[in-house]
Amino acid sequence: MYKLENVSKKYNDKYAVQNFTLTIESGSITGIVGKSGSGKSTLLKLLNFIEQPTEGQIIFEDKAINDASKKVIRKYKEKIGMVFQNYNLLNNLNVYQNIALPLKIINKEDQHKVNELIQFVGLEDKAKSYPSQLSGGEKQRVSLARALVRNPDILLCDEATSSLDENNTETIIKMLKNINHEFNITIIFVTHELSVVKQLCEKVCVMEDGQLLDIIENRNKSAEKNTASYLENVKRSIEG
Ligand SMILES: Nc1ncnc2c1ncn2[C@@H]1O[C@H](COP(=O)(O)OP(=O)(O)O)[C@@H](O)[C@H]1O
Ligand SMILES: [Mg+2]
Repeated sequence: MYKLENVSKKYNDKYAVQNFTLTIESGSITGIVGKSGSGKSTLLKLLNFIEQPTEGQIIFEDKAINDASKKVIRKYKEKIGMVFQNYNLLNNLNVYQNIALPLKIINKEDQHKVNELIQFVGLEDKAKSYPSQLSGGEKQRVSLARALVRNPDILLCDEATSSLDENNTETIIKMLKNINHEFNITIIFVTHELSVVKQLCEKVCVMEDGQLLDIIENRNKSAEKNTASYLENVKRSIEG
C-alpha cells in the first residue's frame, strides 16, 4: 500500500521526520508510537499527502508520489479517512449531518450509507443529537463513521483514543478491528498510549526524534479478544 524510502520532512532546518523507511501492507493494522514531539503527526501528514517529503520518496499503490500531479494526489486523498484526538466535528450539525458531510461536499449524498454507518457505530438513537449533547466516546464514534462514509481504503488515526477513558477506548479498538476485518481497511494508528497499540496493532513502529527506532511485531494475540467488563479491567490492572 505504502512504501516510504528514506523519507524526511524538515521544518525550519529541523527534521520532524528523518530518514524513514517503512512498508505498510494493504489490510494491515500498524501502530506508530512515540513521545510527544517525536514526529508522529508529521508522519501522518506525509501519509495523507498534506505534506510533501523534503527528501526521500513515498510510493503509494506502486506509484511515486513525488512525481504525481495535483489531480492524482486529490484522487489518492479520497482513499484516505482521518480520525483525530479532538474529533473535529461541526457543532452546528447533528450526528447524521456530520457523518453525511463528506458525501454532501462531493454531491454524492447517500442516506442508506449514512444510516448504515450510524448503525455500525451504535448511534441510532443519537442521529439527531448535536456534538454538545454527546460524550467523548460518542463523538469519536461519529468521527469514525464520518471517516468511513466515502469507503476509504485507508484509515489514519491520530491519537484517536487519547482523550477517551478505558471503556470508550475499548469500544473504539473493537470497532477498528471490525472495520479492518470486515471492510479490509488498512489502519495506521498513531498514539503515545502503548496499551492501545498492544491491543490493536500487528506491527508497531517506535519513533524518537523523527526517526524510526524499531519495528516490533505484536504477538499478543490474547489481547485481541479482551471482552472483559470495565470492573474486570479495573480489578485486573489494580490486582495485577
Ligand atoms: N508545521 C510545523 N512547523 C514547524 N514545526 C513543526 C510543524 N509541525 C511539527 N513541527 C515540529 O516537528 C516536531 C514533530 O512534531 P509532531 O509531528 O507534531 O510530533 P508528535 O505528533 O509526535 O507529537 C516537533 O518538534 C514540532 O514542533
Ligand atoms: Mg501529534
